[in-house]
Amino acid sequence: MAQQRVAGQTKFVLDESQLPRHWYNIRADMPSPPQPVLHPGTGQPVGPDDLAPLFPMELILQEVSEEAEVAIPEEILELHALWRPTPLYRAHRLEQAVGTRSRIFYKYEGVSPPGSHKPNTAVAQAFYNKREGRTRLATETGAGQWGSALAFACKLIGLECKVYMVRISYEQKPFRRSLIQAWGATIVASPSEETQSGRAILEQQPDSPGSLGIAISEAVEDAAGRDDTAYSLGSVLNHVLLHQTVIGQEALAQMELAGAFPDVVVGCVGGGSNFAGLAFPFVREKIAGREIDVLACEPAACPTLTRGHFAYDFGDTSKLTPLVPMHTLGHDFVPAPIHAGGLRYHGVAPLISQLVLDGLVRAEAYLQNDIFASAVLFAGSEGIMPAPEAAHAIHGALETARAADEAGEERTILFNLSGHGHFDMAAYDNYLAGKLEDVALDDRELDRALDAIADLPAPA
Ligand SMILES: Cc1ncc(COP(=O)(O)O)c(C=O)c1O
Repeated sequence: MAQQRVAGQTKFVLDESQLPRHWYNIRADMPSPPQPVLHPGTGQPVGPDDLAPLFPMELILQEVSEEAEVAIPEEILELHALWRPTPLYRAHRLEQAVGTRSRIFYKYEGVSPPGSHKPNTAVAQAFYNKREGRTRLATETGAGQWGSALAFACKLIGLECKVYMVRISYEQKPFRRSLIQAWGATIVASPSEETQSGRAILEQQPDSPGSLGIAISEAVEDAAGRDDTAYSLGSVLNHVLLHQTVIGQEALAQMELAGAFPDVVVGCVGGGSNFAGLAFPFVREKIAGREIDVLACEPAACPTLTRGHFAYDFGDTSKLTPLVPMHTLGHDFVPAPIHAGGLRYHGVAPLISQLVLDGLVRAEAYLQNDIFASAVLFAGSEGIMPAPEAAHAIHGALETARAADEAGEERTILFNLSGHGHFDMAAYDNYLAGKLEDVALDDRELDRALDAIADLPAPA
């Protein structure tokens, strides 16, 4: 009887007392550690002192920590409790809609106040900055999810917040802007006239749609120029991925409640934080010997893992950051203005790059009309309107189920529904009106952007 209930059950929820009390650090278990981040001037690994103008020391220590577990302070747990633990769903209705033999589960991060996984790290970053005496944070945002998450965290913790929002998203998503302002942050479209980096881009291209690389340059420049301000990044860095691992830890416990374990774990990848958050606790199991296929999904317009090179590159367009060992399309590559703004980043987290190199994670790239078709199918069966970024993970899960059906196999698939799309309805309007263009990255543009990094140091 109990077994039957689990089989028919839709939601698997944890009690607040089951909030994860530590973050999982995959560096402790990786077969090959990631290569060091380099100072672009000296070519030597960067040390804590190089990073201190931009980040609080606790986050710098987490960035290089090799401890498997990092305790989560009580104050952060109290903030997490506003929306965590998040629910895990069995997608019964989606399974029926596509007629698959596979079982599909999803972890839903859209229940947070800003609507995505991003506040998991935003509250932690705001907390450590405040504790170490900073009064203001500067950041970039692509889709607006990260900017609103940091604005939310700063409001609750008591910090000022300045957001440089990629211009195309600023125009496509006016209500993300309003949300950021309602939480008390100041926001400007990037490239802006407020920084040297922004002015230099506008001089060359007055109608630049912007990119995450450009907005990062502006936020780093802002933070580096003021003692009261630190820089805050919503993805890519080790400590950001670390903070997201609460997602996968909860999912492990919830899959156990469901009496299941995934054969396939799927997430979308921009800089890599939601993917890592769900996947790393499962990759730990994979490294320990369990068979799991771990799939990273990205846009064909910005195919960092599937077509980028593993190289040292700058994290931003104006070359203000250290050199990061990662799959990259080149720091001056400006992705086409697809609607998954949060996936328009030229690089990816070094931890994920290393796991791809080691064969522990694989990647696929999709066109935007295909991911919107999957998003609408999902919304029509499960009800939730997904963020376009998260729709890449839905599409990856559905493609996996289709392939399994064709092979006459049955899989248990778990994906991360990293956010809702309530502020992305202009994108859905365009899709439903048949106005979305499918853009795959052009070979010549890829060669050009990669040529521009040919002289940087090569990874070992
Ligand atoms: C809902 C959602 N999912 C995914 C992403 C991609 O970022 P990341 O790869 O760091 O999870 C974003 C970024 O803005 C987002 O808003």
